[in-house]
Amino acid sequence: MRRARIIGTGMAIPECVVDNDLLARCLTTSDEWITQRTGIKERRVSPDTYRMLLRLADAPDKEGFIRELYDQGLDGKIDSTLMVADLALEASRQALKNAGLAPEDLDLIVDATTFGDYAYPGTAAVLAAKLGLTTTPTIAMNQGCAGSVYALATADQFIRSGMYSRALVVGAELLSPFFEFSDRGRDMCVLFADGAGAAVLEAVEGADPPGLISHHLHTDGSVLDKLYGEMFGTSTFPPASKKKIDDDRVRPRMNGRVVFVQAVRRFKEVIVECLKANGLKIDDIDLFLFHQANMRIIEAIADQLSIPLEKSFNNIAKYGNTSAASVPICLHEAVEAGRLRRGGLVMMAAFGTGFSWGATLMRW
Ligand code: COA
Repeated sequence: MRRARIIGTGMAIPECVVDNDLLARCLTTSDEWITQRTGIKERRVSPDTYRMLLRLADAPDKEGFIRELYDQGLDGKIDSTLMVADLALEASRQALKNAGLAPEDLDLIVDATTFGDYAYPGTAAVLAAKLGLTTTPTIAMNQGCAGSVYALATADQFIRSGMYSRALVVGAELLSPFFEFSDRGRDMCVLFADGAGAAVLEAVEGADPPGLISHHLHTDGSVLDKLYGEMFGTSTFPPASKKKIDDDRVRPRMNGRVVFVQAVRRFKEVIVECLKANGLKIDDIDLFLFHQANMRIIEAIADQLSIPLEKSFNNIAKYGNTSAASVPICLHEAVEAGRLRRGGLVMMAAFGTGFSWGATLMRW
């Protein structure tokens, strides 16, 4: 039997820390509201977002400040000094180092990113160039917060089939520049943040060897208006015209209540599906790595499926929701913390825009 095994992990986060109190100086919110509703205490953001937030916190006319930002954006005055591919690169280098491999050893790169540095090509190609690779194939995926499990499943199929033997899987996000840190954007801007996680996969053969065992993926695009962004799409071409800004069509949109309910439902369904497909029970799983969307969502899943909370590794309090990066970051931190035991079963599960969701079972 041939499987893909994770032989190295890595992560990267920007240095700038934004705690809930700084957000409360920028818009109408509070540490208490954010902590109670989400479990998030602080998050990491790009230096550009951080500098902007410090200026916004001190601005007497906050609405005017935001309007001015859009005006500057129209003139192309806001440049990001940190690229999402830079975060992807740092996480990838660390994963490669931990795997004892060089970029040239890779047969494939799969990257999941919601907002890339360019409309095209996707972040996978930008990352490959930064790694110094000029012929290695890349696949760029955009499944929002479910991107990590989709990317793992995709890379796994190439390894299982025998086409490739080594793959790099990355989830990288630089989301903070896209959110509006205002009262009308407060449902989203307090949740999401920047970061990247990476894992190196290698083929392993034997009778029931360790590695990725099964993947369970789903999408329901009929409800996409509950969590979506129009900017960069043909639906808002040109991406940031004055009219589109006036029509409030250039910031991410979410119906938080619907997303909450759907996330709990779909997480539960796919976890049960994964267990059933493998003839397992909750007790058989050593560790759960959930997408870090909201601690209340994780608590609801754990409660309804009788998963002891200590069986899940959570870092949402420190990093917020880093979308496609959150499961790989959890994986890396769990490995570093010694939470994965050799031979133990680990289930990763994620849910995001689309809605797309999925679960992956692996033996460590
Ligand atoms: N600070 C303070 N108040 C806020 C706020 C913030 N950051 N964001 C929204 N509010 C306000 C709302 O405007 C609303 O005020 P109103 O009652 O005067 O209209 C009130 O809080 C309650 O809003 P509601 O949306 O019902 O709150 P909630 O309990 O559902 O919590 C979320 C909001 C966004 C935290 C919650 O719905 C959620 O986590 N949903 C899932 C989001 C998610 O995980 N998305 C990513 C999936 S990958």
